[in-house]
Amino acid sequence: MQVAVLSEDTGVETRVAATPETVKKYKALGANVAVQSGAGTTAGIPDAEFEAAGATIAPNATEAARNADIVLKVRRPAAGELQDLKPGALVIAIMDPYGQTEALQALADAKVSAFSMELMPRITRAQVMDVLSSQANLAGYRAVIDGSTEYGRAMPMMMTAAGTVPAARVFVMGAGVAGLQAIATARRLGAVVTATDVRPAAKEQVESLGAKFIAVEDEEFKQAETAGGYAKEMSAEYRAKQAALVASHIAKQDIVITTALIPGRPAPKLVTRAMVESMKPGSVLVDLAVERGGNVELAEPGRVVDHNGVKIVGYLNVPGRLAATASSLYAKNLYAFVETLIDKDTKTIAVKWDDELVRATCLTRDGAIVHSAFQPAA
Ligand code: NAI
Repeated sequence: MQVAVLSEDTGVETRVAATPETVKKYKALGANVAVQSGAGTTAGIPDAEFEAAGATIAPNATEAARNADIVLKVRRPAAGELQDLKPGALVIAIMDPYGQTEALQALADAKVSAFSMELMPRITRAQVMDVLSSQANLAGYRAVIDGSTEYGRAMPMMMTAAGTVPAARVFVMGAGVAGLQAIATARRLGAVVTATDVRPAAKEQVESLGAKFIAVEDEEFKQAETAGGYAKEMSAEYRAKQAALVASHIAKQDIVITTALIPGRPAPKLVTRAMVESMKPGSVLVDLAVERGGNVELAEPGRVVDHNGVKIVGYLNVPGRLAATASSLYAKNLYAFVETLIDKDTKTIAVKWDDELVRATCLTRDGAIVHSAFQPAA
């Protein structure tokens, strides 16, 4: 059994799909591990540490992937990497499959079995494999750190001989995994925190963290959660009511952190240009949804925009801004999944193709796109 850990080549990706700790675990499962030279550099893991954990270092992707049965990556392999992969190899990454029919077809044509970690069902057994949670949690934390860095004032209330400094007011929009961690982090820094979400279950979670919940709690709100625990796309009518409520609240905030996402859809636009312009100069918005189209009008991917003194932070790949921590959690998520694909007695790959986790995440197999949600249009 041969496991390959490939470098990321997207320019923004700093994370790596394995750590010395998980390399040791793959070795213990009976696998040989080849790490592409430099794969861990941006996550603070030099080749020598992988080597010390028992991996061999391959000079390039072609060598690392040669004969690999399992290929681990952070992001979907680019078209140019596919010729390196062995037909039948299990390729496991955050595949970002929505609207990517061409890329999925390329994976199918390469005859690999591609698994999309972000489609892992949110059931108890798979919690340890939940990359959306492990990475969103760090993004939520980092959003507060990034926001407070751009904010020219202190976060906590301070009573000093020279006068009292008021606590910053932080508003978190979207109280899923990232939002809840943002609330907790902002509270630890001493901010006065409010939060909103369209899922009713979020209210109690927000309040349990010591923040105030702000939302239009009508009939639609009471139905707004899917069986999978995700938000539904809200009606235009609801969004108008939500916008009115948010508009009056946002003008009084110092830092706004937006995290609202709907799986497979563009991010909902929650903060309009007028709302941005209602904020005081020196205020900060951090848009964690910028890669999915953004929650904030005027947010620009990969940039900090200054609009009349209001800063709009649109960093890409925010978990990658904590590359070492993010890699260590992501690598453990991957290992936990790979473990289920291996027969520990015979030390060989034994994918149970009808397993719930495999069915939910497997995009391509035997030359075809097999996932029901991503079938090419007839
Ligand atoms: P997400 O990343 O898909 O979205 C972030 C948040 O934005 C969600 O809370 C969503 O309700 C909210 N949102 C969407 N549209 C909005 C709008 N128009 N206005 C305001 N907020 C809006 O969500 P995430 O973080 O992945 O969490 C989704 C759910 O899954 C949560 O209920 C979470 O507690 C649950 N979960 C369950 C797990 C498990 O059982 N293993 C693990 C992790 C999360």
